[in-house]
Amino acid sequence: MPTMRVLQLSAEIFPLLKTGGLADIAGALPAALGAAGCDVRVLLPGFPAIIAGLHDAVPIGQFTMPWGHPVQVLAGNLPAVPDAARQPIHAYVLHAPDLFERPGSPYEDAQRRPYADNHRRFAALGWAAAHLAHGLDATWAPQLVHGHDWHAALALACLRHWPDGRVKRVPCVYTVHNLAYQGLFDARLFGDLGLPAAAYQVDGLEFHGQISFMKAGLFYADKITTVSPTYAREIQTPEQGFGLDGLLRARHGDLSGILNAVDAAVWNPALDPHITKHFDADHLAGKAGCKAALQQECGLKIDKGAPLFTVVSRLTEQKGLNLVLAGIDEILRGGGQLLVLGSGEHALEQAFTEAAHRHDGQVAVRLGYDELFAHRIFSGSDVTLVPSRFEPCGLTQIYGLLYGSLPLVRAVGGLADTVVDADLATLADHTATGIVFASFTEADYRHAVRRALALYRQPRAWARVRQTGMRQDFSWTQAATHYTTIYQALMDP
Ligand code: ADP
Ligand code: GLC
Repeated sequence: MPTMRVLQLSAEIFPLLKTGGLADIAGALPAALGAAGCDVRVLLPGFPAIIAGLHDAVPIGQFTMPWGHPVQVLAGNLPAVPDAARQPIHAYVLHAPDLFERPGSPYEDAQRRPYADNHRRFAALGWAAAHLAHGLDATWAPQLVHGHDWHAALALACLRHWPDGRVKRVPCVYTVHNLAYQGLFDARLFGDLGLPAAAYQVDGLEFHGQISFMKAGLFYADKITTVSPTYAREIQTPEQGFGLDGLLRARHGDLSGILNAVDAAVWNPALDPHITKHFDADHLAGKAGCKAALQQECGLKIDKGAPLFTVVSRLTEQKGLNLVLAGIDEILRGGGQLLVLGSGEHALEQAFTEAAHRHDGQVAVRLGYDELFAHRIFSGSDVTLVPSRFEPCGLTQIYGLLYGSLPLVRAVGGLADTVVDADLATLADHTATGIVFASFTEADYRHAVRRALALYRQPRAWARVRQTGMRQDFSWTQAATHYTTIYQALMDP
């Protein structure tokens, strides 16, 4: 198979800039696709952390945005994740300090309000992709463009509406990581985007009188993917389609669900440099040391017999954290402990903080974002809680599986695709990997917690379920093959 030149676009990339799972995936895909025969480069906005991490940067060209603003494009290398064997990632970065050089979140100001010029910031990303596809870098041009989430979605409209109709169209793939975040903007801002009036239509990026970047991605993509097979089905329903289910149903022939994978150079308890003791599915002694160290670090009672339930999450409505709050007494009644690491909505931050005060030594909360602490949590945790309302894929339940922390999840999206509920049949045939509950109710969640506690009190069954989970294969090989098959079909239609 000849090497395909693929340009990946995303707003985040691990290890330089991460607010959620998108960064983990964007950081792992270049190497995974490289191993599958692609020549991958990434295109990123010049947020301070990205500029700071870009090595060997050279300007390769510039273009002018519709509002008269010049944007320079740099080419350079990003550090690969900590794995000496891995090549650095070739990257293009938009150097536009007045658009991107702002401290804090890449998307919001200090009051957590989206920046008023987000449409311009991410339109710049889109036009940069289109310029690269049409020769901005004389030494490398993509044969295919692959955008991730709404921040990258305008690229697909820019490519389709490229002013010179004579040039060959570059095929595009668009991946939805979360349909809930759509990039909606006032229609009056349309002039800033530099697209022809024809783009602002129902057959285009118009969505109920607004501009929708997400819809641009879904409408203009040659192929659409999302991050789990179940979520690919769910987003075609009114319940989970966020108003875009009609379009997704119309495009169902071009839509597929490719389950996310895990970068084993980053998430592997046998080698993880950030945890207290190493362990694997056959040598679990080290896990007890990780648990004791974690309990001590967070001010929880050091008790190896207390099942330790943990949450590592953005604190948002999506993640079902009200269920966790409501069910704290259920965990405590069963002799368990709860540890939460997260940041997000103020009300949730406050409610967890109050719970930790009320139950000193049994409930602990750390507000904020702490990548290395997350590793220590998975290593010491017994149960990873992910009772989401919806979940496109979810990565923390997979990290839980690999680190011997049984996931307790709701049967939705990628959670349903990655965890096998422990019932009599799956315990008997040794396929169980966690606890799965069906409906988003306090009663169902509490029952799931009770089942986890009961399983914990049966050490042999618990050990078996944990071992089955740790042996699951979440390597990138299969996902990379799916993506390259889609790319290949678009290159030789
Ligand atoms: P989402 O992308 O919806 O937030 P995922 O489960 O796909 O959910 O990915 C979340 C990623 O962010 C995981 O790598 C998780 O470990 C990490 N994460 C979330 N919150 C925190 C936090 N407060 N501190 C450190 N890592 C976090
Ligand atoms: C989104 C989703 C999450 C998914 C991640 C990576 O942030 O909320 O479920 O795992 O993207 O694809």
